[in-house]
Amino acid sequence: MTAIFEPRNRALAQPLETERFHLRPVGPVRFLIATNRWRSDPDILTGLYQSPRRRSLWKWIKTGPVPNNRTRFAFLIVPKGSNVAIGAHTTKLQGYRSAFHTVALDDRDWWGKGVIVEVRARVMNHFFRNGEIDRFFGVVEARNVASVFNYRRLGYDHVGTWHRHRQNPTTGEVVDFLNFEIFRGKWEEGPFAEKCDAD
Ligand SMILES: CC(C)(COP(=O)(O)OP(=O)(O)OC[C@H]1O[C@@H](n2cnc3c(N)ncnc32)[C@H](O)[C@@H]1OP(=O)(O)O)[C@@H](O)C(=O)NCCC(=O)NCCS
Repeated sequence: MTAIFEPRNRALAQPLETERFHLRPVGPVRFLIATNRWRSDPDILTGLYQSPRRRSLWKWIKTGPVPNNRTRFAFLIVPKGSNVAIGAHTTKLQGYRSAFHTVALDDRDWWGKGVIVEVRARVMNHFFRNGEIDRFFGVVEARNVASVFNYRRLGYDHVGTWHRHRQNPTTGEVVDFLNFEIFRGKWEEGPFAEKCDAD
């Protein structure tokens, strides 16, 4: 049965908070409005799809990280004291008790300020606690240095490389992809695990 017939997962689609941000769970319509600019932002498109080519709304709906709040969840990242989202973080349940993330910040003023590590750590604690998740994984283009650093900072292990996996349709460059994963046990021993009952 497809995800559309499953009940919403209200335990996971919950408002969250970090030191600097409110993380607001949204459905597909609010997500599409909030990420409308992503479809024509060359840096974000390259980070997500290795190509700066603009995406139509139709393609974004079909292939983008649009939440259904059953298997895919999205949180708008809103700085405290503001009402404007600076980006969005999504998490998709996929594989055996596993999940992976997608993120982008369209507000450049927030790049290089540790937003992803802070937000992702909170999301991971929430999913480990309230979802049937034992493992997070990520596949990232080797040249996406910020993402690679963020996975490593959070304690993910580099578990493999897909060499010459994809060709950039615009530049013709052939790029490698790195595979990362972390299991619950390692997370709980790491510095970002929430020890107290914060949810
Ligand atoms: C990824 C993104 C959200 C920025 O995240 P960020 O956490 O602000 O990234 P930063 O610039 O702080 O980089 C993270 C780390 O990588 C390091 N880094 C980044 N580029 C680097 C480079 N070229 N060389 C060395 N280190 C680099 C930073 O110094 C930082 O290290 P630190 O944790 O020790 O401070 C933003 O680039 C974005 O929206 N990109 C487009 C979408 C995307 O690529 N999403 C990820 C794929 S799902």
